[in-house]
Amino acid sequence: MAQVIAIANQKGGVGKTTTAVNLAASLAVLKKRVLLIDMDPQGNATMGSGIQKNDLIYSVTDVLLGEAPIENAIMGSEVGYKVLAANRELSGIELRIAEQDGREFILKNVLKNVEQSFDIILIDCAPSLSLITINAMAAVNGVIIPMQCEYYALEGLADLTQTIDRIKQAVNPNLEIMGVVRTMYDARSALTRDVSDELKRYFGTKLYDTVIPRNIRLAEAPAHGLPVIYFEKSSKGAVAYLKLAAEIIKKIK
Ligand SMILES: Nc1ncnc2c1ncn2[C@@H]1O[C@H](COP(=O)(O)OP(=O)(O)O)[C@@H](O)[C@H]1O
Ligand SMILES: [Mg+2]
Repeated sequence: MAQVIAIANQKGGVGKTTTAVNLAASLAVLKKRVLLIDMDPQGNATMGSGIQKNDLIYSVTDVLLGEAPIENAIMGSEVGYKVLAANRELSGIELRIAEQDGREFILKNVLKNVEQSFDIILIDCAPSLSLITINAMAAVNGVIIPMQCEYYALEGLADLTQTIDRIKQAVNPNLEIMGVVRTMYDARSALTRDVSDELKRYFGTKLYDTVIPRNIRLAEAPAHGLPVIYFEKSSKGAVAYLKLAAEIIKKIK
């Protein structure tokens, strides 16, 4: 059975999509069968995987609306993993599914049809706590939280854990924080180190040992529709995400 993992944080710009795309590619390099589901109407994970978000035949939107079987909507990619893509149409469906019975569990139910085909399913979430994000949270075994080591990250911690507890009570009693990953890490900055120490105290063993450094190649690769490992294999970003993937696999076992 697949491990289903949401990459989530209610803050924008913390490295969720970068983590989702590069983890997907790294896990695939480590021989895992990976599905990446884009649940953000911005479609950045879709584009970052080399798929044109405006040319989709089927997307996650059609799947959530029950207009396409998930098997037909899942696409191949050139970068080692499968993709259930998204574009701005996803933002328009909230109201259409809001009245439905079991509206929080649409994704969870359709995933049952493909779970045996994958080892790991990653879901890239939008920063909002919409019904779409709730669908993601209801479908997963755990959440990986990317965090930037800045002062505001600490301010948001209580909020974040409260939100996850509330979702846990409402839709998914098994929901766990699987791990917290430090992104855009700058080892030379005293603030980074202080915040990092604080995160270690707060999350303990859930804080991954691997840190993702600030690395320009990670920011450049999406423009080429590539995870960084296919863009510049020896870059610090590529090495870090591969290491993180290995750490995650080890912890899942
Ligand atoms: N480790 C990193 N080093 C350099 N730039 C990064 C890194 N991680 C993310 N970025 C850049 O920061 C911006 C926000 O990252 P993104 O993954 O889109 O965040 P989110 O999905 O949380 O909004 C993007 O422009 C991305 O390319
Ligand atoms: Mg994003």
